Amino acid sequence: MTVNLDWENLGFDYMELPYRYDAHWKDGAWDEGGLVQGGSLTLNISSPALHYGQSAFEGLKAYRTKSGAIQLFRPDQNAARLNRSASQLLMPAVPTDQFLAAVKQVVAANAEYVPPYGTGATLYLRPLLIGVGENIGVAPAKEYLFTVFAMPVGAYYKGGMVPTKFMVAETYDRAAHFGTGQSKVGGNYAASLQAGKYAHEHGFGDAIYLDPIEHRYIEEVGSANFFAITKDGRKFVTPKSPSILQSITRRSLMDLATSVCGLAAEETRIPIDGLNDLAEAGACGTAAVITPIQSITYRDHVHQFGDGGVGPITQKLYDTLVGIQNGDVEGPAGWVVTVEA
Ligand code: PLP
Ligand code: COI
Repeated sequence: MTVNLDWENLGFDYMELPYRYDAHWKDGAWDEGGLVQGGSLTLNISSPALHYGQSAFEGLKAYRTKSGAIQLFRPDQNAARLNRSASQLLMPAVPTDQFLAAVKQVVAANAEYVPPYGTGATLYLRPLLIGVGENIGVAPAKEYLFTVFAMPVGAYYKGGMVPTKFMVAETYDRAAHFGTGQSKVGGNYAASLQAGKYAHEHGFGDAIYLDPIEHRYIEEVGSANFFAITKDGRKFVTPKSPSILQSITRRSLMDLATSVCGLAAEETRIPIDGLNDLAEAGACGTAAVITPIQSITYRDHVHQFGDGGVGPITQKLYDTLVGIQNGDVEGPAGWVVTVEA
């Protein structure tokens, strides 16, 4: 059924699996695409993805339920976001049906690598859309590759649901106000490497960015969105900004904060000098799931949330979200999609 791996101790590392999916776009249309073996691409050396960052990607996971079934979490939202990113970089949209079929085919073909229920590990899927073919001036590509590959992963931040220290990257911006921050494009991640390296070298899980205009309001983490629970225990708040990624996990937590925890959920500006108003904070995303924020270091000040442990609302949101993803808790209609393997 499954291959023999040390599932409980997987990190977030690349592993080549037997199958991926490739489709090619040329002369205005996608071919039908299909499964391909191997982990290497052959590209023209002048491909715009390589030089000019005409490259967008997605991240989603396949989960093994208690009964052994395999399910995806809101893959239609990833399809929609990939196409918003594609539009910003002048790349052709991938039809939603083709995106969903590609993801399902890759999961089914690599089903023995979908980690067993209860191990905490999942199968991470990486859809990727890149401009390829001959090109040297700064212009959109004339050909595109859409590929989906996968690998089993464990926690992105060490320990997973463990309170983690973050720092504010005051001298770095991840994205410009009218830039590509809301798209999941390669350049945003290249721009986050320096701050991420600085944060890791100084003992932090990651860097938190501030808004690129005033450097006053929290934006997000290099690879996850930010959320918090206000001190009065009544609100789930998360940054409102044109330059952050619209996280599918965050959107889901906003819904669960309302429906399960009875909170108001609000996208609002969160000032970095207003941390005293917050009782709990976390980073959320597909890879990060929910990573509780133990403290935020800003300039010389370390702000600890509560007693530095996992707050009760963060824990409830985590249990509900992961419960839905693993098939133990019934979620809102349409959130979970079964894969026939
Ligand atoms: N923000 C950034 C910069 C990310 O890379 C991610 C990961 O996808 C997220 C937020 C979380 O988004 P999602 O919950 O859709 O995975
Ligand atoms: C994800 O959560 O899917 C991400 O893309 C985060 C990171 C690995 C880039």
